[in-house]
Amino acid sequence: MEQYVIKGGNRLVGEVEIGGAKNAALGILAAAIMADETVLIDNLPDVNDINVLLDAISGIGASVHRLDRHMVTINGKNVSAYNIDYDYIKKIRASYYLLGALLGKYKRAEVALPGGCNIGSRPIDQHLKGFRALGADVEIEHGKIIAEADRLVGKHIYFDVVSVGATINVMMAAVMAEGMTILENVAKEPHVVDVANFLNSMGANIRGAGTDVIKIRGVQRLHTAEYAVIPDQIEAGTFMFAAAATKGDVTVKNVIPKHLEATIAKLEEIGCKVEEYDDAVRVISDGNLSSTHVKTLPYPGFPTDMQPQIGVTLALCKGTSVVTESIFENRFKYLDELARMGANVKIEGNSATIQGVERFSGARVSALDLRAGAALCIAGLAAEGITIVDDIVYIQRGYEHFEEKLRSIGGIIEKVNSEKDIRKFTLKVS
Ligand code: UD1
Repeated sequence: MEQYVIKGGNRLVGEVEIGGAKNAALGILAAAIMADETVLIDNLPDVNDINVLLDAISGIGASVHRLDRHMVTINGKNVSAYNIDYDYIKKIRASYYLLGALLGKYKRAEVALPGGCNIGSRPIDQHLKGFRALGADVEIEHGKIIAEADRLVGKHIYFDVVSVGATINVMMAAVMAEGMTILENVAKEPHVVDVANFLNSMGANIRGAGTDVIKIRGVQRLHTAEYAVIPDQIEAGTFMFAAAATKGDVTVKNVIPKHLEATIAKLEEIGCKVEEYDDAVRVISDGNLSSTHVKTLPYPGFPTDMQPQIGVTLALCKGTSVVTESIFENRFKYLDELARMGANVKIEGNSATIQGVERFSGARVSALDLRAGAALCIAGLAAEGITIVDDIVYIQRGYEHFEEKLRSIGGIIEKVNSEKDIRKFTLKVS
């Protein structure tokens, strides 16, 4: 099992290029199988989650050609199987986007039912409600979701909770349904808009993505397209909080500043200077940061996927901060790890009270999940001494060249996979 070993204390200074948005790419890759012609997708992040989904897609018979690390062509003409095994779902929940894509195109899909995960139980009732409303028979048998329809017919569907996954999945299923589908109370995240834009570039007729209501007029077929995935707002935000926590000065390049508004607002609130350019954002921190309160909410609110990164930063800010997690019930476990590095935290229900400390001290911690892992790396970079982050396989699911990018702005971090390597690193840096 690989680890990151980090020597903290360096200010992060410099420029970092942000890659394509993992969560947009997952929806886009699944949607790509709905065309009978070749579709080219660019600006893909080269991360494990994407590679697993591409395997699942070729596993059902679609042709997948990786032109380079960030570009792929997909042709769904020869899709011959409509079932996605638990192996894929276990590795990456978002394989369930193939449910909407296969049902929409072939009127049949069998996908293993995803379980909960480290950040909480994650129901998919809203996805299934949407498929049923469009006319599909949906059964759960032997751990699988089996969805079938003779025909799908557009409907007026009101989601009970705002869900990114349900919005994207039901939108895909509705793209080739007969007539008009109206989805209300939908998620407005940039990646929802990106998947809708991609489907439209293949000939779908979707209006309103990015607002509370999406209207989809069904079309009979989808055609070839070339599309570039939007930049990853969460990767960008992670480096922005890394700059804040390490008293750094980092410019994240190739971003859409509009997508980072909630993050920028919080960084300014705690005392960072933030400069916005057309496609870049610079964060400057003099280390004199103060507490604030934050509550995670659906977009344009503060993203739950950035909660651990702001939590780590607030643990170094003067004063008492309250972080409220309103999306996932089990997303504070990283704070127990952070407490081992000297953070002063108290968790009650879905709120954490964080009393800022002067500094963290390096310790051995576990990544727990993707964003928690990235946040603990930020903590390690800000800490005194050596931090070892175990289970970095989680981080590799969603960050491309994470350690290289951090090194390029002055972070002292290496990927290792033995106690001997850890000792070697410790000797080298001490
Ligand atoms: C997506 C993101 C994830 C992010 C999350 C919230 C991807 C691949 N993943 O996850 O990184 O943390 O959005 O921004 O894009 N819910 C239900 N019933 C449902 C669906 C969801 O009750 O059928 C609830 C969930 O338990 C959660 C909330 O709705 O409390 C939001 O979840 P959702 O937006 O669906 O998250 P994901 O799409 O799984």
